[in-house]
Amino acid sequence: MNTLLSVQNASVVFHARKGLLASVDVRALDGVSLVLDKGESLSIVGESGSGKTTLARVVLGLQKPTQGQVTFAGEDIGRASQKSLKDFRRRAQGIFQDPFSSLDPYMTVGQIVEEPLVIHRIGTAAERQDRVAKALEEVRLTPTGEIAAKFTHQLSGGQRQRVAIARALVLAPEMIVADEPVSMVDASSRAEILYLMRELQERHGTAFLYITHDIATAYHFSQRVAVMYLGRIVETGPTRWVVANPLHPYTKALLQAVPEPDPQNRFRKRGALSGDPPSPANPPPGCRFHPRCAYAFEGCDREDPRLREVRAGQHVACRLWKGFDEGARLGAPAEGTRTLLE
Ligand SMILES: Nc1ncnc2c1ncn2[C@@H]1O[C@H](COP(=O)(O)OP(=O)(O)OP(=O)(O)O)[C@@H](O)[C@H]1O
Ligand SMILES: [Mg+2]
Repeated sequence: MNTLLSVQNASVVFHARKGLLASVDVRALDGVSLVLDKGESLSIVGESGSGKTTLARVVLGLQKPTQGQVTFAGEDIGRASQKSLKDFRRRAQGIFQDPFSSLDPYMTVGQIVEEPLVIHRIGTAAERQDRVAKALEEVRLTPTGEIAAKFTHQLSGGQRQRVAIARALVLAPEMIVADEPVSMVDASSRAEILYLMRELQERHGTAFLYITHDIATAYHFSQRVAVMYLGRIVETGPTRWVVANPLHPYTKALLQAVPEPDPQNRFRKRGALSGDPPSPANPPPGCRFHPRCAYAFEGCDREDPRLREVRAGQHVACRLWKGFDEGARLGAPAEGTRTLLE
């Protein structure tokens, strides 16, 4: 068995207050299923409000799904005993967006990185010091002794995020969930931190769930990608295929929004995304993307397409495509519609 994490049909509904008396249901996550193999990296991409952080919290056991379940190493974490839950908290680590609020300002870097070892009662004091130094070295915070004695306010944003990575690493986890780890870091250290995470992922064989609004970084980071829109996965597959041949109009629009120079013309400018996504409290009928879709056609405002395999390994929730299982090697576009591959 190679599967490390499996999310099955997970939904999260928040009851948000609306005015004094009324409350409104926000379906932040709506029937999401995904699998992460041991040592694999999967990127989750989507705009603000698509449910990425909610998914990260569900996967880390910090948010109970309203429906569905999360299985880690074969065990349902919603039903796990205290002991296996503690085990899970050692084996699965999170790195969050904000390196300013996620680290205790009254602790030294050494104490911050050592804390998980203390909590999990790992090693003697000397052994822990050793592991802390190794973790700091791995994230290239050297000289380690000097850095360990500092407080986080003495570090740059990029250095703080590396402390957060070292803290996650020190337990030698099997899975790291990184929720927009570089979006609050200064632009100059972003690439370096992403490169570092990828190197660590490869060296230690750690499975990674990398969450981002930036599909370009997903391209550089992960083997597989899942694109989210309003709480659902709308396209998933090997990153290289999805980027070269996006089959969902939303994925295509995200790719067109990529600002960086594009010598190989991978990210073509056509039908770019306009406007903000609608609120998950009041999603449009039919396909949730249809009001913003450049390819919408008759029926998209009524029929809600399900995720299905359109090419081997590439799943898409869009009525433009017939299913892989319906006999086509590459799903043929529905009649009378424009093709995304033209
Ligand atoms: N505790 C909560 N109570 C009510 N609504 C919430 C809560 N947490 C999230 N939401 C709503 O759920 C939806 C998904 O939020 P989430 O934070 O998961 O999105 P996201 O993709 O991480 O966005 P961002 O890119 O801005 O971080 C949003 O509409 C958000 O307002
Ligand atoms: Mg978020």
